[in-house]
Amino acid sequence: MKASMNGFQMHFDDTGKGAPILFIHGFPLSRKIWRAQVEALRNEFRVITPDVRGYGESEATPGVYSMDLLADDMAALLRHLQCGPAIIAGHSMGGYILFAFLRKYPELVRGLIFVSTRAVADTAEGRANREALAQRVEREGHQPVVEKMLAPMMAAASIAANPTLQSEVESMMRSASLHGLDGASRGMATRSDATELLTKINVPTLILAGTADALIPHSESEKMAQAIPNARLHLIEGAGHLLSMEKPEEVNSVLKDWLRKS
Ligand code: MLT
Repeated sequence: MKASMNGFQMHFDDTGKGAPILFIHGFPLSRKIWRAQVEALRNEFRVITPDVRGYGESEATPGVYSMDLLADDMAALLRHLQCGPAIIAGHSMGGYILFAFLRKYPELVRGLIFVSTRAVADTAEGRANREALAQRVEREGHQPVVEKMLAPMMAAASIAANPTLQSEVESMMRSASLHGLDGASRGMATRSDATELLTKINVPTLILAGTADALIPHSESEKMAQAIPNARLHLIEGAGHLLSMEKPEEVNSVLKDWLRKS
């Protein structure tokens, strides 16, 4: 499905009936990362999976994609579908978008699912690395992003267990627009620290992370779980950064169990 909102055309899937759950993918991926979750949950829930601005099939716009802008896009989608408040899941950059969303649109949030993400902002070095990557993307296209992100995205054991996984993820990365890649890199660099928000969260919260995540250490998820009142933390042994595709059965079973109680 597609619709114009907030100044661009967004592609999304909206399937199933029941309490709405919005799944926001991370950098530099697309809504395809949630395929197994859509299949597992659509019989009990309304599952909404957008492509973030500039990713997958969604239209790209030039400029910096601040987390606030991407949160505005998500709020526009929920309004377009007339379905808030929703449980909202964010993977990695999707989690950064979720923090911005929580600040701006708390009335649209019924529950939170943070997947392989962190509350802290970038260090000065992290910001400089993102700017360097954005400039390389402008000069060289997708290749620097694929070189930087593909190898650490998944645990070696997950790749060995599913030989098509890595090429599928690479083609997702190459389907991103260049505006999407440099716009979101610069947007992530300027995101604010969300640590102070954690203790104020007052909706059911689930936190998932892999113990072999090479991009965001799972200790970040442990810190979030300690700070958020009554959060449930589930660590997936041996999984890397891309839990939804690396360990779909375990992720789906934790999601179903938590969603049925939330
Ligand atoms: C992501 O998976 O969205 C990114 O690794 C997040 C980041 O670069 O901080």
